[in-house]
Amino acid sequence: MSGISRRVTKLATTCLCRPFQTGAVKQGNVIGPKSQAVFTREGKYGAHNYGPLPVAINKGKGVFVWDVEGNRYYDFLSAYSAVNQGHCHPKIVAALKDQADILTLTSRAFYNNVLGEFEEYITKMFGYDKVLPMNTGVEGGETACKLARKWGYQVKKIPENKAKIVFAAGNFWGRTLAAISSSTEPSSYTGYGPFMPGFTIVDYDNVEQLEKVLSDPNTCAFMVEPIQGEAGVVVPSDGYLKKVRELCSKYNVLWIVDEVQTGLARTGKRLAVDHENVRADIVILGKALSGGILPISVVLADDPVMLTMKPGEHGSTFGGNPLAAKVAVAALEVLEEENLAENSEKMGALMRQELSTLPKEVVSIVRGKGLLNAIVINPNWNAWDVCLKLRDNGLLAKPTHGDIIRFSPPLIITEEQMQECVEIIKKSILNFK
Ligand SMILES: Cc1ncc(COP(=O)(O)O)c(C=O)c1O
Repeated sequence: MSGISRRVTKLATTCLCRPFQTGAVKQGNVIGPKSQAVFTREGKYGAHNYGPLPVAINKGKGVFVWDVEGNRYYDFLSAYSAVNQGHCHPKIVAALKDQADILTLTSRAFYNNVLGEFEEYITKMFGYDKVLPMNTGVEGGETACKLARKWGYQVKKIPENKAKIVFAAGNFWGRTLAAISSSTEPSSYTGYGPFMPGFTIVDYDNVEQLEKVLSDPNTCAFMVEPIQGEAGVVVPSDGYLKKVRELCSKYNVLWIVDEVQTGLARTGKRLAVDHENVRADIVILGKALSGGILPISVVLADDPVMLTMKPGEHGSTFGGNPLAAKVAVAALEVLEEENLAENSEKMGALMRQELSTLPKEVVSIVRGKGLLNAIVINPNWNAWDVCLKLRDNGLLAKPTHGDIIRFSPPLIITEEQMQECVEIIKKSILNFK
């Protein structure tokens, strides 16, 4: 693996990918021939790079989705935290429809009258000088890495082509070649080398290892998730983020925080770093920036970092398009107007409290912050089978790992709905006892 010291940990997996199921699925009380037809067609004509849970959704509203058979489910994945505001939020959909009739795309070859409005709104909201809009979360990560390298050469005066970026084992930030070059998950990188040079990996939540690599004068950045979502909702020790800030400042290294999954109220604060009152040098946001309506991502940074990039050095045809800009402002307004961070904090605490009453031999760990949570189930059971049972009982969730199931419902969930969901989860899990 050229240029990378890869420590393969037990953490691992991103999506627990099963081979695509084209044959008969376990017959629950909800899956019928219409669903089967959807699975079969996708299996025949689509690439097999995903292993979805067998449920065929055709409608979403708020915390619910419906399948082609008309069955209703609580959505406890929220499209990997992209649908924080709930499915098809009326305000965000209205913004989309209104702008779609006026102007959708100019490219950045010209100005458009909406982008600046979004740029002003989001920079003021998060307190950074500038924003760089892209589309997907992984593009946000790529942008942050490019910015860090450029800053490393221009400002830190790292010798040409020597800049190093440090990542934490168990990270997940997407599927591009750069992203998998920093991955410790074999199913992400095996068969896709050669890899990006200049990437170094340290253990997550290990400040001694981190200090060692940050003290290398060629290190320009440390990129990390404040809670590792895809690794199984791994929450670091209290004080870790503060220490990261301290060490990055001490060694003149940029701290890049990947808040693509944890940001935008998911963990009970606007940003997950707010739990420790710390500020990163570069913030990456995505997913819920559109409430699940369009792919929108951004990188936030201050002028000394952002202005190292000059015209023509980076961009995207769709990044910063007026449709996305309007939708993003609406999506951010919804987070504030509906106090979704507060609700996330409250409902998350309720969920963890309820689920921690399950017997320890059934659910050994309940962890998370706000509404980004996971349970670790009895290792003798298959998390996939538990998710099928949850589906049959009207709740959709997905394993993140062999025995870990993530629970991340839309942040608009009410207390009554949460109580009902907790009962569904308890019933489904106790069924395996
Ligand atoms: C922390 C984190 N960063 C980046 C990404 C990549 O986002 P996208 O799939 O939009 O490229 C993800 C996706 O799950 C993520 O969880």
